[in-house]
Amino acid sequence: MTTKRDYLKIADLSAAEYAGLFRRAKELKAARKSRLMVRTLAGRTLVMIFEKHSTRTRLSFEAAMVQLGGLCIDLSASNSQMSRGEPLPDTARVVGRYCDVVMMRTFGDARIEEFSKFCDVPVINGLTDGGHPVQILTDLFTIEERLGTVKGKTLAFIGDTASNMGRSFVEAASVFDYQLRLASPAGYHPAAAVVAHSPRHVTLLRDPKEAVAGADVVITDVWTSMGQEAESAQRLKDLGGYQVDAALMRGAAPHAVFLHCLPAHRGEEVTGEVIDAPTSAVWDEAENRLHVQKALLEYVVLENEKRSAR
Ligand code: CP
Ligand code: NVA
Repeated sequence: MTTKRDYLKIADLSAAEYAGLFRRAKELKAARKSRLMVRTLAGRTLVMIFEKHSTRTRLSFEAAMVQLGGLCIDLSASNSQMSRGEPLPDTARVVGRYCDVVMMRTFGDARIEEFSKFCDVPVINGLTDGGHPVQILTDLFTIEERLGTVKGKTLAFIGDTASNMGRSFVEAASVFDYQLRLASPAGYHPAAAVVAHSPRHVTLLRDPKEAVAGADVVITDVWTSMGQEAESAQRLKDLGGYQVDAALMRGAAPHAVFLHCLPAHRGEEVTGEVIDAPTSAVWDEAENRLHVQKALLEYVVLENEKRSAR
């Protein structure tokens, strides 16, 4: 009977654990800036499994593990036995025998849950259709860097708020105690079951101007997420009025920060003027994946070792 703890969704850690994680991420960021070596994961191995494309997640997890003294193995589904029909439970059982932690990017949440069920080591969600928790943690950490705290702030998410990004932002709202306004056309808001995670913290709106009015943070995501390519033309049509441009940003608070998890499509969900402006925190946001995930890897791996030693 395994006692491991995964990180598959926002609810898998408590507010107190997140506070500790952010403190540690800040320390690790400072250590890297002053070229101080931190080797807390020496001798440990991370296996990364990608069933969707990635730039930042692949780079930041591998860099995090190696900089902490560990080793990283990239098992892409397309060139392993996974794409030749080896059952997922068999792969999961084997992977767990070689490493200390797994990061998986896949489609349905049921798939990562099934993998985790058969894998003896903790599994971290590196993006599924249902959420992108490591990105949301990084975004909240970036907001705290820029604005001091995220508690009590108003975040406006514009566009396809039913995306994995939108869903994880909803789940995190009650844990981190911020107000989240979601502006989307009909059919592009998260389902009621998702909103039920944070009913007092989330407002569903149609009008992007209403959503950004006085907001501290303005966020968007691509209109066509990975796996939705066949719907791309329809999505472009439906979401056409939801571009974050300079005029929309002017409605937000004067100190407002713009976030986008990237990759971005300039001219679709955001204009070049907004994403390349000084109010945009997207490059810090991308960098912070490294620091936040180091803190998360340390926490998950070392906590698992303590639990299994008991
Ligand atoms: N933001 C993010 O997860 O980027 P990648 O898809 O490049 O990993
Ligand atoms: N919603 C996007 C996020 C990419 C990091 C997607 O799933 O493609």
